[in-house]
Amino acid sequence: MENERDIYYPSPESVRGSLAENWEELERSAAEDLEGYWADRASELVWSKPWDQVIDDSEKPFYRWFVGGETNIVSNAVDRHITGPRKNKLALLWRSEDNKETRTFSYFSLNREVVKMANILRAMGVEKGDRVTIYLPRIPEVVFAMLACAKLGAIHSVVFAGFSADALSSRIDDSESKLVITADGSWINGSVFPLKNIVDEAVRFSPTVENVIVVRRTGTEVHMDSTRDHWYHDLESLPIARGACPTVQVDAEHPLYILYTSGSTGKPKAILHTHGGYMVGTYTTLRYTFDIREEDRFWCTADAGWVTGHSYVVYGPLLAGATTLMYEGGPTYPHPDRWWELIEHYGITTFYTAPTAIRSLMRFGDAWVNRHDLSSLRLLGSVGEPINPAAWRWFHEVVGGGRAPIMDTWWQTETGMFQITGVPAMPQKPGSAGRPVFGQEAEIVDGDGNPVPDGTEGFLVLKNPWPAMARTLYKDDDRFVETYWSKYPGRYMTGDAAKRDEDGYFWIIGRTDDVIMVSGHRLGTAEVEAALNSHHAVSESAAIGVPHEVKGQSILAHVVLNQGFTGSRELVEELRAHVAAHLSPIAKPDEILFVEKLPKTRSGKIMRRVLRARALGQDEGDLSTLEE
Ligand code: WT7
Repeated sequence: MENERDIYYPSPESVRGSLAENWEELERSAAEDLEGYWADRASELVWSKPWDQVIDDSEKPFYRWFVGGETNIVSNAVDRHITGPRKNKLALLWRSEDNKETRTFSYFSLNREVVKMANILRAMGVEKGDRVTIYLPRIPEVVFAMLACAKLGAIHSVVFAGFSADALSSRIDDSESKLVITADGSWINGSVFPLKNIVDEAVRFSPTVENVIVVRRTGTEVHMDSTRDHWYHDLESLPIARGACPTVQVDAEHPLYILYTSGSTGKPKAILHTHGGYMVGTYTTLRYTFDIREEDRFWCTADAGWVTGHSYVVYGPLLAGATTLMYEGGPTYPHPDRWWELIEHYGITTFYTAPTAIRSLMRFGDAWVNRHDLSSLRLLGSVGEPINPAAWRWFHEVVGGGRAPIMDTWWQTETGMFQITGVPAMPQKPGSAGRPVFGQEAEIVDGDGNPVPDGTEGFLVLKNPWPAMARTLYKDDDRFVETYWSKYPGRYMTGDAAKRDEDGYFWIIGRTDDVIMVSGHRLGTAEVEAALNSHHAVSESAAIGVPHEVKGQSILAHVVLNQGFTGSRELVEELRAHVAAHLSPIAKPDEILFVEKLPKTRSGKIMRRVLRARALGQDEGDLSTLEE
């Protein structure tokens, strides 16, 4: 917090006419009348049946929003635009990793694609409430697939197309999906990642999957099971794909999607979001924080496989009627200026990315940025982990030309929408995410739930309900209550440590549970350990996150080997490859230490805290519960 006094005041251009120009007034009025504030926001969207009640908190923490209302998020993200002046406005711009292909979709043509895919899904028996797993790379079809499911009232479960067959299979089975939508492969830094092969392996013993739709992307040869697999380009030309497809009107609380995320224990949690509240929440927060204007071109670099992609690549921008860019590749391939080239080419006005990407690009020096004209940028955004002041300043000065304010948005898969962030008119403090969104109140508490004084580190909790809040964990209400609502009754436990300063700005420190944020990707220690333990040489293991200059955190694994095995460089590489194959390449431990035994409590729980302290050369703290 040594930079707490470091304040950047927004330029008059960022303030004047911005949607949240009167942010202090908005903050005050939402605090005074939470229901009125959210009812006003919801009224900006279309509903086929108005709600009777804004918030129903009679069965806390199972809040219900816009009770009695009916709509569909697609009615607002697509349908309402094509009957008005946005009909021919660009909705989605897409560029391929090899930089040779461009695809563009107006709202009119986006609707055509969504209708087509929805017709196909419907012909395959997908009905309201059915689950569909989407395992696609960053290509336009991932957007069509999500919207097509939503249009029919089906529940999508997008699995990041970098997860292995084991991870995919457990998500397909847990959600009992009847359909999987994938591609033959995806491009990653010039080589092919074999998505269809992974799906084949994942669904081999899957009792629920009836059909697999395959989008051709890489042209890789794949096996097609004639009773189960269908090329999307074949289906597209069939009569079933043609004709109108009405957007099914659903209850505001009808599930929109589930998204698996990591928690403290082994099994990923299936976060459930709904149509009405999630729609109002993502629409409002995107507009206020990124001040979306008709002429803007918005680019969020996230993958649709994570919540940032759901809320701020797909739903938020389309709900706001914005033009959004999707780029298939990553930041540094083939050169570290591909992103800057795209910003220049498309005249991107609003650029939202992660500190890890900023740090990795910063290492290549300013020259890569400076050879491009980035003067179109007027707003920048950051998400996924705290942004260190050095990266903040580089992003602000070198990328943003000293003009563009940075919106540091703190939120989670569970929250669905921003919870702590700035708006362009608000003064900024590099490294602080800013203030709770309008209508939210956050608090820092100690282990007993008592508020701590400003400037003191504690646990971050949220005090008010918000429309895009997770409704439950799919099929696991008990775990939902237990994980988020039982430690501090009446308040939502975020799992993060933070501080608040005397100006009411929040400074996020990081997770307090067994979650590791690697390059902004959320991984559970237990998942990494399960992957390690499935190797025949491993007896048991403990994974921890340690600070990493570029990734934020990297994984350090402690491994106890079975008898007859000895640690070697080869075994380290074999175990890393094993984790990549059984969980995901993003989960590969950076370092593996072979140890004789792991520190455990007398009841046999691994004390990761002790391993962390040892790794960082810190005091090991209270060891009274350590066995022996
Ligand atoms: C965790 C949630 C939804 C954003 C993508 C990650 C960390 C997120 C920030 C930020 C500091 C942040 C927190 C949080 N985090 N944004 N601006 N500053 N930390 O979503 O995978 O659900 O992870 O990401 O630790 O708990 P997620």
